[in-house]
Amino acid sequence: MFVSSALPDHVLKVVVKETPARRNAQLRADAIESSTQLPFQIGAIDPSLFPHAAWARLMAKTWRKQSRALTGVLDPFGWIPLRRAISEHLAEWRGIDCNEQQVVVTSGTADAVDTIARCAFRPGDSVFVEEPGYGAIRFALSKLGVSVKPVAVDAEGMDIGDQLERAKERGAFLTPSRQFPLGTTLSLPRRLKLLDWVARTHGYVVEDDFDSEYRYRGTPLPAMMSVDRQDRVIYVGSFSKILSPSLRLGFVVLPRHLIDEVRAYLPKRGLMAGVTAQPALAEFIQSGDLAQHIRRTRRLYARRQQALIAASAELDGLLTVTPADAGMHLVADLTPRLRRRMTDATAARRAKRAGIVASPLSNYFAGQPRRSALLLGFAGFDEATLGRAARCLADALKSVDPKV
Ligand SMILES: Cc1ncc(COP(=O)(O)O)c(C=O)c1O
Repeated sequence: MFVSSALPDHVLKVVVKETPARRNAQLRADAIESSTQLPFQIGAIDPSLFPHAAWARLMAKTWRKQSRALTGVLDPFGWIPLRRAISEHLAEWRGIDCNEQQVVVTSGTADAVDTIARCAFRPGDSVFVEEPGYGAIRFALSKLGVSVKPVAVDAEGMDIGDQLERAKERGAFLTPSRQFPLGTTLSLPRRLKLLDWVARTHGYVVEDDFDSEYRYRGTPLPAMMSVDRQDRVIYVGSFSKILSPSLRLGFVVLPRHLIDEVRAYLPKRGLMAGVTAQPALAEFIQSGDLAQHIRRTRRLYARRQQALIAASAELDGLLTVTPADAGMHLVADLTPRLRRRMTDATAARRAKRAGIVASPLSNYFAGQPRRSALLLGFAGFDEATLGRAARCLADALKSVDPKV
């Protein structure tokens, strides 16, 4: 028994003997506590699907060897076997023909954008970004002195129209496979137009392909980098969705002519991606375990999307939920009737009070929002949770009590 006489009586009553089993149980409970995932959180994966056994085995195997490479000075581009594994994965999954020299391991999007903004662009440059789009990219670019010009997204992706002819922009950051957050695919004519523009102007298309593995129907268009013959595409990938966001590992594939510039820049800036998980991840990819994990989670996520679509009957008259061919969330537009009563931001606040995180689409616009919707993440939650959450959301939106 561990007691302290300084503790008041009411606390003493609940002090219990601390055993290793209790300590472990508490540690597990705390670990669950520190994951703040609530239903419909956008971008959430299901942490319980993480391949713990294979991962633990690979971490032990790669760290048991007393390799000087692991604890010595790291190549600024990352662990070579991981870079090779990434290039092979990209050849198989995205048709990209690159070698490991072009691959830089990053700690995620902010790291990737920093490297790209410093080495492919210059402070004072301006680039096109999608509207609505991923705020973290706009934020990182602006912080680095690269200004952004938002371009509206329609059913064919970023609507560049004929503005490229007069554009002073030096490139474009976009999500061509599955526009984030609306989910459209950049059409082939627009892809070719953008590629032709950057080839003529020596600019760059930065292709953010962070969750393209999660496609449930139809064949994806090839990655823009795979059809670029002029070396004007920079490809950005991430392990946050296909494995875990807590690893903080992603990568950039550079056109060959940028390799030297990035090699000179990274040691000056300092490295961000730790090596701890890189050897295990390399083996996880090479063994085929990652491909298997993606196929397994893709099947589950497809079922979860179906469950959410079925449960969205609860939301009839409130939200119009559009099925998606790919991705990890659905766009649920506020019906005209609900729009008369509230904005998407108000709807999201009401949902939050009911324990639901449904991001308002208006948050993803740099300028005036042109569409009012909630984004409903489905990948991270089992079918029963999605059903319950849809019912809670319906109650929160139906309520006429303004405090709900
Ligand atoms: C558009 C977009 N790109 C990239 C990422 C991945 O970011 P990171 O690799 O920093 O986790 C996300 C994550 O939600 C995203 O929404």
